[in-house]
Amino acid sequence: MSRNTEPCIGQAPSIYQLRLRPDAQPIAATSDQSVMQCAMQAGFEMRASCRNGTCRACIRRLLSGQVRYRIEWPGLSAEEKAEGYILPCVAHAQSDLILDAEV
Ligand code: FES
Repeated sequence: MSRNTEPCIGQAPSIYQLRLRPDAQPIAATSDQSVMQCAMQAGFEMRASCRNGTCRACIRRLLSGQVRYRIEWPGLSAEEKAEGYILPCVAHAQSDLILDAEV
């Protein structure tokens, strides 16, 4: 049985802590915005191009936490997902998150 963790209409989104690197200060990540949108609102740049989950320019490794995707097929292989890679432009926080540094 799956649980829908989307906020209902009129319900406030959940707020989590997001670290863009393990040693970075946490910023707020809300469940109704992508990780990239949250980072940009806090004044941080992230590598990006399409912003719709296809070009992979934004690929980052998630060291800790859980995300959900706003699209059904984000451009990641099963192996990349298993290794913890995410696409921040279409990933939404479902817990506190720690990303690896950009390479
Ligand atoms: S910016 Fe293209 S996949 Fe994220």
